Amino acid sequence: MKSIDRSLFDASFVEEVIAYLREAHGVRAWVADNDNTAVPSAPAETGAMPYVRYYPIGSDPGIGGIKCAAADEGTLVRAEPHVLFGIKGINQLLLRETELQQTSDEMLQLSEQLSFLFKLAQKTIGVNELEEFCRIILEVTAPAVEADHGIVRTKGRWDQKMEILYRIDEEELARLTREGLDRIPVEDSTIIYSLSDGTSVLRFPIKEKDGPIGHFAFFRKPARRFFTSYEKKFAGIIEHIISPTVETIRLFGSLQELYINTVKALAAAIDAKDEYTHGHSYRVAKYSNAIGRQMGVSEKQLNDLEIAAYMHDLGKIGVPESILGKPGKLTAAEFEEIKKHPALTNKILQPIRLPAGIVDAAVQHHERMDGRGYPYGLKGDRISLFARIIAVADVFDALTSKRPYRDAMPVEKALHTLYEGIDTEFDREAVQAMVCAFRSKETDMGWTRIHPDFRFSDEGRLDEFLAGLAERIHPGGNAEKPAEQANA
Ligand SMILES: [Fe+2]
Repeated sequence: MKSIDRSLFDASFVEEVIAYLREAHGVRAWVADNDNTAVPSAPAETGAMPYVRYYPIGSDPGIGGIKCAAADEGTLVRAEPHVLFGIKGINQLLLRETELQQTSDEMLQLSEQLSFLFKLAQKTIGVNELEEFCRIILEVTAPAVEADHGIVRTKGRWDQKMEILYRIDEEELARLTREGLDRIPVEDSTIIYSLSDGTSVLRFPIKEKDGPIGHFAFFRKPARRFFTSYEKKFAGIIEHIISPTVETIRLFGSLQELYINTVKALAAAIDAKDEYTHGHSYRVAKYSNAIGRQMGVSEKQLNDLEIAAYMHDLGKIGVPESILGKPGKLTAAEFEEIKKHPALTNKILQPIRLPAGIVDAAVQHHERMDGRGYPYGLKGDRISLFARIIAVADVFDALTSKRPYRDAMPVEKALHTLYEGIDTEFDREAVQAMVCAFRSKETDMGWTRIHPDFRFSDEGRLDEFLAGLAERIHPGGNAEKPAEQANA
């Protein structure tokens, strides 16, 4: 049972009222529960005071009140305005304390929510893959709402269906479905419902302008308590934050993919402008991938590297064809025109918010290790690693391709030319990785035959040549196991 004693943080005002009634009006007063039973603060001896009145406190009937006793009724009647005045004061005090309690509860909830949202923001910052984003939300939210399982179902890029499970296997999912998981269609709001076996479900939609495109659902096993309205409110906050983000990632992803395909098509079109550079961007992308792989670049980063390689000469679209396709030596003025193409590539790529690494790699592929390259004159490792890789791939492809004024250089000679440019034009590790990639069996199955112009000085002794070159690049290096060495 509630009592004033327990409802008031500070009961000294009640004690003052009781003391005042006794001293000024001869009334014996004490705190009583609503059923008129005296709480322990009541005086034991009231036998000489047969007249008793009860004054409830607060709007909650369970809280109790003040009981007043006197020797005659006149005393009680005279004291009543003072009793009521005291009750009014106590009521105000109670109200203030209730508000204070509510505020402190709300602040506690708010601080829990803020710390959760902060954690969420920290984990999702920079994530631009829809699946990864949804997985993080699922994995961070499930423990926060004390769920046993969770699921997210949404439309992915190009509207294909995406489903991610949290601590739930296909069998369990089938069981939940049988128990009525999908019996309530996904609507605009956050809801709590239960399945026929008593599993409690908390579900919130992922919304786009035209309505829900998916939902997050969290489950509590039948033996546990149901989700509460507080948890529902909390899920509503999460929904408000993530829905616009999911939409952005979905649309941005689609646009990015569309743009990348457009750029690839554009790169192919640039290559096709000149029969002698046909397939150049494609081959540079493949060589770059092989070099990057040898250097231990991760699978996801290899993808970025390949995209950058596809785009490396995009800016050539702005260079006159008469200069691009000119047989023989360029004049100084013509070379100046050619040198503008990385800046033009930058201009084309800037608006699509690609990861900075991709743009840097494409724009810096004519920088040299000695700082004598263009467009910025960057030196050594100030040049992006991907740009250093693309530079090697780019020159290798140029050397091993036919030109109107010369034949394709044999592979060995081209690799040797790269070797001679180490530390002045090319990155040592990137050249070594190119040589190692050539020796790797994995590569041999793939890109060593992608170029119709490939010819060799002495293919029978190619491996011997490559091993010798690798040894010259890194004397004492383990030339027998190129891939492992590069990845170490
Ligand atoms: Fe270029």
